Amino acid sequence: MRVRAEGETLSVIVEQGEDGLAHLVWFGPKCEEALAQHAGFQRLPASPDIPIGPTLLPEHGRGFHGIPQVEGWCIQSGRRLKLAAPQIAQEHGKIVLRAIDPVLGIEVKSRLAFDGDALTIACSLDHKGPTPVSIERVASALLPSPDWAVEAFTSAGAWGREGTPAARDWSAGRIEQVGRSGRPGFDGGPTLSVKDTGSYEQTGRWMTLHLAWSGPFRLAAERATDGSGQLLAERLFAPGELRLTPGDRIDLPTALVALSGSGSNGVSSIFRNSIRRAGRRLRRPVHFNTWEARYFDVTEAGCIALAKKAAEIGAERFVLDDGWFKGRRNDQTSLGDWTVDANQFPNGLTPLIEAVHAEGMEFGLWVEPEMVSPDSDLYRAHPDWVLGWPETDLATGRHQLVLDLALEEVRDHLLTTLSALLDSYPITYLKWDCNRDLYPASREGIANPGAQTDGLYELLDRLREAHTVEIESCASGGGRIDAGIAARTDRFWTSDATDAIDRLQIQRSAALIMPHERLGAHIGPSPNPMTGRKIPMTFRILAAFFGHMGIEADPDHLTDAERMALKRGIDLYKTHRDWMHDGQLLHASPAEADPHVDLIVSAGGTQAMLRIMRINTPMRPTQARIRLIGLDPASHYRLTEIALDGDPMLWPIGEFEGAGLMNQGLSLDPGRSQTGRLIHIERIG
Ligand code: DGJ
Repeated sequence: MRVRAEGETLSVIVEQGEDGLAHLVWFGPKCEEALAQHAGFQRLPASPDIPIGPTLLPEHGRGFHGIPQVEGWCIQSGRRLKLAAPQIAQEHGKIVLRAIDPVLGIEVKSRLAFDGDALTIACSLDHKGPTPVSIERVASALLPSPDWAVEAFTSAGAWGREGTPAARDWSAGRIEQVGRSGRPGFDGGPTLSVKDTGSYEQTGRWMTLHLAWSGPFRLAAERATDGSGQLLAERLFAPGELRLTPGDRIDLPTALVALSGSGSNGVSSIFRNSIRRAGRRLRRPVHFNTWEARYFDVTEAGCIALAKKAAEIGAERFVLDDGWFKGRRNDQTSLGDWTVDANQFPNGLTPLIEAVHAEGMEFGLWVEPEMVSPDSDLYRAHPDWVLGWPETDLATGRHQLVLDLALEEVRDHLLTTLSALLDSYPITYLKWDCNRDLYPASREGIANPGAQTDGLYELLDRLREAHTVEIESCASGGGRIDAGIAARTDRFWTSDATDAIDRLQIQRSAALIMPHERLGAHIGPSPNPMTGRKIPMTFRILAAFFGHMGIEADPDHLTDAERMALKRGIDLYKTHRDWMHDGQLLHASPAEADPHVDLIVSAGGTQAMLRIMRINTPMRPTQARIRLIGLDPASHYRLTEIALDGDPMLWPIGEFEGAGLMNQGLSLDPGRSQTGRLIHIERIG
């Protein structure tokens, strides 16, 4: 029996073999599915008599020693959980697999469906048996890997340095991407790719797994001794965390899988489309954020003056960052006390918000609801509300503790507190921060890390139901970027590094999964507060141009020339953002290349924006041609350079055929180090 699910261009076929098991016989382009068949095995002397290789909902006991779907045991008898062969069915375009342990009564249900070309895999467990069962681990998605996948690709990083590519050979063994810190973290989050050796940005086979989950996770690529590979994505459970009693059910986080023959750009566009469909389509106003302009030094008069200057250069949303609430003069106090500080804002936030509105801007506010400072009224009133309670001497991070969102009273309190702010003031946007890892993830000694994420999701869902407010997911920068939080928020703060050179790679890495328009990209001060680098304003603008643009630089510290360039950059962003935010971001150069060459091609392909960023002095004077991608080879295009400073602003480059632009490329000098070029491409025939 064969069942199939169909995406836009891809399909999946599952076949019940003669062995009764569920074999993935196809995951690839629909038009090639006539080639669907089982993996072939050569039986060697030491092999099982009937080699089976990895299947869907795999189980041990018949000579397959890879990763099983679920591992657990009966708390009473110690008997291990063992699934019988699955039933397969096709239901409303989905493939549904069900397997049960007939003795313990644990039923696993896995559903494979397409969202566009993103394969979504959702798994749930139902306890239909008589006695409690402890589940050690259970896969959301567990797939046989394509045989061409011989390299694994993840990213590594730290605070301010998110998104460093990490490519590794995967000819043997296991490569894991694990997050135990309670939030996805700076180290790549729940994303793992495999590819063949010749895969790059625009060419070659590439497959990426992503778990839509902001809590502890494990992704893995594991090669068995028979050479076959498996790809795994799952929520990571702590010891004792998942115990099912009769009648219990758990829905595991959904995994998304993208497969492309067009390198990482192909995979990205599959994720981007899926995440766009799940989210709100918004016009992205230019932000002014107070953080790098003022840090904790925010006052009514100071912010009103800042708002006026921000509006003059074109900001459309003024975001009051950290430092506005009761007693908060530095990062050591007051989290949890979400009332306006009467010394800094003696009349509440109303005068500032009125001034912001008078300048034609919206108002946004920074909050960090999941946290509490030991030095706060909230902690003094409810010391038992923190994660780890009743441990004493809890380890702080950025001088703060974590509220236990598994507690309903904590979630209710936060909803009431945030609602009071949103009801009192016209706040259209919250920057929702989370500045430390979520430890110790336990209450009364019982591990509960996943409940923290479940609680956060519930709180966000209720808040969004009750209020019309956009939310940015920030976790000391890019510490919480995943499709689970993306479904409940509207924007990501990708890093605390506003250094434009570092940001090119940070934005690129986040854009593997996330739509570029959701990635906050701010023009920071010079010298940059984190790296000390002095980067020209035009380069800083171009680095922000391909994301959701904002400003953190103090306008008072800009030269006239910088201010003029910034105003022009913001105007251009406003002119082009609508189509750019619906378009596809394509990388035309490898991550390590200099210059970086990227394009955004509009949804209908009628226009594109080419950005060329030179970081260092060229190694050699001879410059390689810039070969474009994503155009129609048979169409004609007009290319116009846009200058951010100087006169005139538009410089005609010429009219060319798409095929020539892509095959031969443009001979363009990318310029000196730390300069960039922006070229508008218009289809003319
Ligand atoms: C970390 C964020 O990433 C920064 O942008 C800023 O909001 C600070 N927290 C404020 O404490």
